[in-house]
Amino acid sequence: MIAAMKPELRPVLTEDDLRRTVTDLAERIRADYADTDLLLIGLLKGSFVFMSDLMRALDMPVEVDFMSATSYVGRESSGELVILKGLNESVHQRHVLIVEDIIDTGLTLSRIRERLLLEGPASLEIVTLIDKPARRQADVPVKYVGREIPDLFIVGYGIDFDQKYRWLPYIGTID
Ligand code: IMP
Ligand code: MG
Repeated sequence: MIAAMKPELRPVLTEDDLRRTVTDLAERIRADYADTDLLLIGLLKGSFVFMSDLMRALDMPVEVDFMSATSYVGRESSGELVILKGLNESVHQRHVLIVEDIIDTGLTLSRIRERLLLEGPASLEIVTLIDKPARRQADVPVKYVGREIPDLFIVGYGIDFDQKYRWLPYIGTID
C-alpha cells in the first residue's frame, strides 16, 4: 500500500501559537466561571481537538456534551441548519459554553444558539478558537475569541476540507 502524501500547507497558526491561544482562553474562562458548574458543548466535528485541549487547560471540573449540525456543503454555507446529532444532556438552568472551531458567516452558530436558548439555560456563551469577522452575516455574540484571521480557508487541528486534514497538529491554508 502506498501511504498518502503528507500535504505541505502554508502555516497560519503553529502548534506553539495554538498552545498559547488555548492557554489564554482557558485563563479567561476559568476566571469567569470560578465556582460555577460549567457545561461545555462542542460542535462536531471541527471543535473536538480544540475542546479536548481547552478542557484540560481549564483545569477545573466541567461536564461535556456534543452536538453536530451543519449548514455547509463543500466550501460554502447553504444557510439551512441540519441537526445531525442532538445533545444527550439538558441545558435547562445550566451554565453553558458552546465550543466552536471557527466562525465564518456565523449562520450555523446563531441558529444553534437560538435553538439552545429555547431550553432556558442559566447562561449561554460562546468560545471560538478562530474568528473570520470579514465574512460575518449573522450577528452572534461571541464572548471568547482565540484568534482573528483574514478571509482564508484554513484546515488542521480538527478543521477539515471535505473531511480531510483534521489530523494536522497545526492550522494551515490550502488557498
Ligand atoms: P458559518 O456558519 O459560516 O459561521 O460556518 C462555520 C462552520 O463552517 C465552522 O464551524 C466550520 O465547520 C466551517 N468553516 C468555516 N470556515 C472554514 C474554513 O476556513 N475551513 C474549514 N471549515 C470552515
Ligand atoms: Mg464547526
